[in-house]
Amino acid sequence: MRNVVVTGGSRGLGLAMAVNLAAAGYRVIAVARRGTDELAAASRAAADGAGPAAGAIEFRAFDLSDTGGMPAFVRGLRADFGTVYGLVNNAGLGTAGVLGVMRDADIEKIIRLNTLSPIVLTKYVLRSMLTARAGRIVNIASIVAATGYAGLSVYSATKASLVGFTRSLAREVGELGITVNAVAPGFIDTDMTGELGAGQRERIARRSALKRMAEPVDVARSVEFLLGDGGRNITGTVLTVDAGNTA
Ligand SMILES: NC(=O)c1ccc[n+]([C@@H]2O[C@H](COP(=O)([O-])OP(=O)(O)OC[C@H]3O[C@@H](n4cnc5c(N)ncnc54)[C@H](OP(=O)(O)O)[C@@H]3O)[C@@H](O)[C@H]2O)c1
Repeated sequence: MRNVVVTGGSRGLGLAMAVNLAAAGYRVIAVARRGTDELAAASRAAADGAGPAAGAIEFRAFDLSDTGGMPAFVRGLRADFGTVYGLVNNAGLGTAGVLGVMRDADIEKIIRLNTLSPIVLTKYVLRSMLTARAGRIVNIASIVAATGYAGLSVYSATKASLVGFTRSLAREVGELGITVNAVAPGFIDTDMTGELGAGQRERIARRSALKRMAEPVDVARSVEFLLGDGGRNITGTVLTVDAGNTA
């Protein structure tokens, strides 16, 4: 069974990815600081062979802002599960704030988790992919990296940085059989966007070509596509999943 590490796999988009990838036959290793009842239920359903799952879901607790702990964490994953085939850098902080009054500590926190952590984690996971001469990396960016959004300047900077990272790394590791892509979701209902009011949701849907918001499962299916045979010759791209919000 192919191993796929999904960071932030306990809730929101990451949980949808875990469920979808397990159904597609992967062994998902979901990483977050804390497990959730929903993830535990999905893991049990996969283990019981209930539902559509042909794969498995495991959980490993780790604070991804601890980049110094990553070499040992990744060694542990390899010892427990073997070679990692896929890495989905999904965990992220969506703290909003007007730049002029944001605390420096909060700015650092967002940049650490959204930019530094995926880069350092990728560095260590890549080593196992290099040995296998195969692997898929998917970085979860956001449409705001390209469009901009008032109150999300720091967040947008981190997401734009992931796109630059994606493009250059794709060129660096392509000849080794490894693909690197980004998925850019639009606004999607999760804990992260919980503060959006009904009016804002309605406006987002109205401004989208399909007159609705995309859902976690849409992002999950795009990730599955990039990890699967369909993504064999796709690298260095950004796949937008926003129901046409930016069309
Ligand atoms: N929702 C949207 O509209 C939207 C749109 C565009 C892009 N995105 C991107 O999609 C990704 C997922 O977003 P979401 O909406 O699903 O977020 P979410 O519901 O807030 O979930 C965040 C996930 O990341 C984990 N996480 C947070 N801090 C962590 C840390 N220090 N160490 C380890 N895990 C950590 C959380 O688990 P713990 O708290 O237990 O650690 C959780 O599993 C993010 O990168 C986000 O920027 C989301």
